[in-house]
Amino acid sequence: MASTIVFIGPPGCGKGTHAAKLSNDYDILPVSVGEYLRQEVKAKTELGVKIAYIMSRGELVSDEIAVEVVKGVCYSNREKNILLDGFPRTVKQAVLLDEFLPDYNRQVDIAVYFKVSDKEVIRRISGRRLDPLTGKIYHIEFNPPPEGVHTIQRDDDRIEVIKKRLELFYNETAPVADYYKKQKKIAEIDGEGALDEVYSRLLSAIKQYIEKTA
Ligand code: AP5
Repeated sequence: MASTIVFIGPPGCGKGTHAAKLSNDYDILPVSVGEYLRQEVKAKTELGVKIAYIMSRGELVSDEIAVEVVKGVCYSNREKNILLDGFPRTVKQAVLLDEFLPDYNRQVDIAVYFKVSDKEVIRRISGRRLDPLTGKIYHIEFNPPPEGVHTIQRDDDRIEVIKKRLELFYNETAPVADYYKKQKKIAEIDGEGALDEVYSRLLSAIKQYIEKTA
């Protein structure tokens, strides 16, 4: 059975950064619902226009939309190890995930909860920059882009939106960690400190579910 790993944590805790590094070093497919939604917004589809409004206010898209994205990935990647970055984000999504994963011969193996303070979240998100061509994530202070690389700031990285995203995290997503705690599937890791330190904590937590790429 292919592995299914879940990343939970407040905005800016490092989910995307570590998902990218992990998929580079190990045989695992990173799945970011947020990134999928940003592509939809970029394509200016009818759904994309609605999503743009929701995301720019720091709110969550409906459980149905998020679930459909993940189901589509499971359908097309039955044999692959997958890493769900930022899904499930509500208890309802977690329950639905447990219901549909067996259809794809999967189950959640482990949920990693990156613990980062609100102060650090704001420091990280306010300095975050993206390369719009490659999707690579940088930070103006901690991980600056190479010279000549043009970067942009995400629309939802404005301070008032960050506060809303944090509020939703505590109200809607923190209970998802309790959901996995009850199933004894949670690994809480300290998400603060240097990138390499956090990465090695992550590897210790999930090593039994991943294999190095050949
Ligand atoms: P999404 O894109 O998933 O955003 P998020 O969960 O808020 O997380 P972020 O992408 O902001 O942060 P991250 O944890 O990936 O941190 P990063 O690695 O970039 O979702 C966006 C929106 O889509 C949601 O608000 C919602 O509207 C919608 N959505 C998505 N999923 C949904 C779902 N399931 N249901 C409903 N709606 C959904 O790191 C941040 C910065 O910090 C970077 O600059 C990085 O370089 C830096 N950094 C990282 N680690 C360190 C470190 N250790 N030290 C110093 N700097 C660091």
